[in-house]
Amino acid sequence: MRSNAPGERESPVSRSSASGTSELRRLREALDERIEFIEDMSHELRGGLTFVRGYVDLFLAGTLGPLDERQEHALRVIERRTAAIIRLLDQMLSLERARAGHLELCADVDLSELVHHTVQAASVVAAQSGVSLKVDAPTTCFMREADCRRLQQALDNVIGNAIKFSETGDEVLVKLMETPDRALLSVQDQGIGMTADELEHVFERFYRGSRASQKIGGSGLGLVISRAIVEAHGGRIWAESVPGDGATFHIDLPKAGPADNGRAGD
Ligand SMILES: Nc1ncnc2c1ncn2[C@@H]1O[C@H](COP(=O)(O)OP(=O)(O)O)[C@@H](O)[C@H]1O
Ligand SMILES: [Mg+2]
Repeated sequence: MRSNAPGERESPVSRSSASGTSELRRLREALDERIEFIEDMSHELRGGLTFVRGYVDLFLAGTLGPLDERQEHALRVIERRTAAIIRLLDQMLSLERARAGHLELCADVDLSELVHHTVQAASVVAAQSGVSLKVDAPTTCFMREADCRRLQQALDNVIGNAIKFSETGDEVLVKLMETPDRALLSVQDQGIGMTADELEHVFERFYRGSRASQKIGGSGLGLVISRAIVEAHGGRIWAESVPGDGATFHIDLPKAGPADNGRAGD
């Protein structure tokens, strides 16, 4: 089973970049305005929430008087919820930037290094969940241009999902392969897997599979962001799975880096 065909969705920017011209400029201005609006909104909301958290911390520290068990429990709930909303705001901002193709490009990015780095960062969570994390990658694999931070964010999410939807004792394999002009990443797990219906929707905003949302936390934005980042680099991401028998996510990137579409480096 496989999710909707890679490259099926064409971003508004890439569509208009085909025609070039003023339509592209108009579209870019509209996107920039939208990002600016979301940046302002999240800044304001973050400020308000930080204020709320500050008071919650004061209560929890006992500075405003002693708390009984129920009060402490309620405050912990508020603390977790505000942290989750702040995370969500950051993710929405991230998504808008990736969708608009805002990349900070570096030359000669070694994807092998990036994979090892990301896996290392995820190893603590994997160990806590009893999941073993393996890497199979060539010594080096260079992309001529890429936004390392963004690519790492995409990979972080896919590896994070693989760990999160696995059981103790399962293995997650992160593989990097290359052809003369492409880099092919895959993240394979032995976890809960996805049904055909779930596979169709996993790259949609706020979508969470029914089994996932029952017991495992999340926002349903991670894969949308990952997809936007991969597509901003001229790549494709898709998934395959047999329910109950794990999932594999594939990322296919051009080693040349993002196509020169007039957006890179914004
Ligand atoms: N490795 C995986 N195994 C099983 N289901 C997955 C996996 N990765 C993603 N999914 C499904 O895709 C949904 C969306 O993933 P994502 O966008 O990362 O959101 P979140 O991790 O916040 O739930 C998940 O809720 C889950 O249903
Ligand atoms: Mg996720």
